[in-house]
Amino acid sequence: MSTIRLKNIKACVFDAYGTLFDVNSAAAQAKDELGEKWQPLADLWRTKQLQYTWLRGLMGRHVNFWQVTGDALDYAMASLKFDDPALRGRLMDLYLRLRAYPEVKETLSRLKSAGMKLAILSNGEPRMLASAAENSGIAEMLDAILSVEAVKVFKPHPSVYRLPQERFKLAPEAMCFLSSNAWDAHAAKAFGYRVLWCNRFAQAPERIPEPPDGVIETLAALPEIVV
Ligand code: LAC
Repeated sequence: MSTIRLKNIKACVFDAYGTLFDVNSAAAQAKDELGEKWQPLADLWRTKQLQYTWLRGLMGRHVNFWQVTGDALDYAMASLKFDDPALRGRLMDLYLRLRAYPEVKETLSRLKSAGMKLAILSNGEPRMLASAAENSGIAEMLDAILSVEAVKVFKPHPSVYRLPQERFKLAPEAMCFLSSNAWDAHAAKAFGYRVLWCNRFAQAPERIPEPPDGVIETLAALPEIVV
């Protein structure tokens, strides 16, 4: 656990999927139908979803994250031999109501009380983000929900990381960016944010440029670092 302190932070900007919202929770809630394949399906669904965002960005073929999420689920279900449109519909519906990680609500509340501006910056399509934020009870604490749909290209394109700067009229170094996706943390650091990687699953550090300022295990550590 890092003992780093970041000074003069005016806003905290959070990645959504994997950072605030548990992307495994959709498949986990369909264990009754998926059986022991629920975790392989969750893993492949997420892996393909991210690959498709990167590939579409490089190919210049943007579609929104709802479409990408459905395409990735189709790939994962085909790979694991599930041919069931009703199950597909159920999993997509569950994706709109992902659970927040246990410490999220309390952490946002503490930051909000301390006067911190709070935002989501995500690949998610606005309707998906609004739904997840609403369902997890954090919507009213957020000053902004910023989606890549404003620039029509996915992370880690630099134009995405400019959105909070424009919304809050703050320099990137006055904002702390939080992501559990290490590659997203590196990209935000490259843009100029102060960055904490929320390494929930004890993953090895990425071998790409621009490492984050610090590493935390859950978001619960955040208020001590930035307030
Ligand atoms: C997001 C993905 C990267 O929310 O998890 O932007």
